[in-house]
Amino acid sequence: MDRFLITGGAGFIGSNIADRLLEKGHFVRVMDNFFSGKRENLDKASAFGSFELVEGDIRDVDAVRAACRGIDFVLHEAAIPSVPRSMDDPLTSNDVNINGTLNVLVASRDSGIKRVVYAASSSAYGDTPLLPKREDMPPSPLSPYAVSKLAGEYYCRVFSGAYGLETVCLRYFNIFGPRQDPLSTYAAVIPRFISAMLRGESPMVNGDGEQSRDFTYVENVVQANINACYSGGVSGMLFNVACGERFTLNDLIRQLEEITKKKANQRYLPPKKGDVRHSHADIARAREYIDYRVAVDFREGLRKTVAYFAEAR
Ligand SMILES: NC(=O)c1ccc[n+]([C@@H]2O[C@H](COP(=O)([O-])OP(=O)(O)OC[C@H]3O[C@@H](n4cnc5c(N)ncnc54)[C@H](O)[C@@H]3O)[C@@H](O)[C@H]2O)c1
Repeated sequence: MDRFLITGGAGFIGSNIADRLLEKGHFVRVMDNFFSGKRENLDKASAFGSFELVEGDIRDVDAVRAACRGIDFVLHEAAIPSVPRSMDDPLTSNDVNINGTLNVLVASRDSGIKRVVYAASSSAYGDTPLLPKREDMPPSPLSPYAVSKLAGEYYCRVFSGAYGLETVCLRYFNIFGPRQDPLSTYAAVIPRFISAMLRGESPMVNGDGEQSRDFTYVENVVQANINACYSGGVSGMLFNVACGERFTLNDLIRQLEEITKKKANQRYLPPKKGDVRHSHADIARAREYIDYRVAVDFREGLRKTVAYFAEAR
């Protein structure tokens, strides 16, 4: 049994990781300030005796130090995770995503943590023309969010090289699945479209719908995080976590029409600032070094997600 701290563990991805670790018999402590996380995301986790919740802010280094006490692995998911939110309020995104990450790394270094796994973002690649994106391509961030997540990666690498703290960065590509917030102004496209269609409303598409993404079901990310903790010789490395396929928003709507058996009647709005046009990952490096496999593909993931949202209504 190992002891994990998940920052941002009340959020969509963090709570899915927490459930899996608890099922595997590990101890999990979640640190979250409930900025976008929800208490009900932790309902399942709370039923385990080996679960602990610490309400706290990663911008408070002493609180992070206290949360690191007795911990083996830190999975750092806490962030303000939205491109448009960072366009509206770059200062807060910078503060949480950069200063907060630095606090997590300093506290981890001082607490003898075995390894920190950092939730990095595919937004770091920006709009460079070459696809699929490989980890050795130069980054080209287009939004304050992308800059902030990339700075976190650089800090991870520096802490690995300069202080000997083991760190691994996982660049997530458009993750979706149960518990992703469908309703906030900053909600991601899949939960937004599904909840609109289940309510019989028209999904709103920014741009012409031909922009594409490597949509990745959350279960794959859970697996990548666990493998990143236990794979040898990967400290200081960066891995794409995705399915290695890309689908346009128009493809996504067609799939959802098939699954829900409803017409979408989507409406098209002007494109969003800071958005990249195409995103598609090469996942060979993760396959080789952390034995990453796509456990649930796009279509299967969509079916599971629609079933979850239909049940949750
Ligand atoms: N969802 C995606 O497609 C995606 C893609 C790339 C990277 N990521 C990264 O994955 C991580 C998790 O994202 P998510 O989609 O689960 O989002 P989420 O909003 O559901 O989770 C983020 C969590 O961090 C918490 N948090 C925010 N500020 C905090 C603070 N100052 N102190 C403590 N907790 C704080 C929130 O309350 C929330 O529970 C983020 O780091 C995000 O940047 C997500």
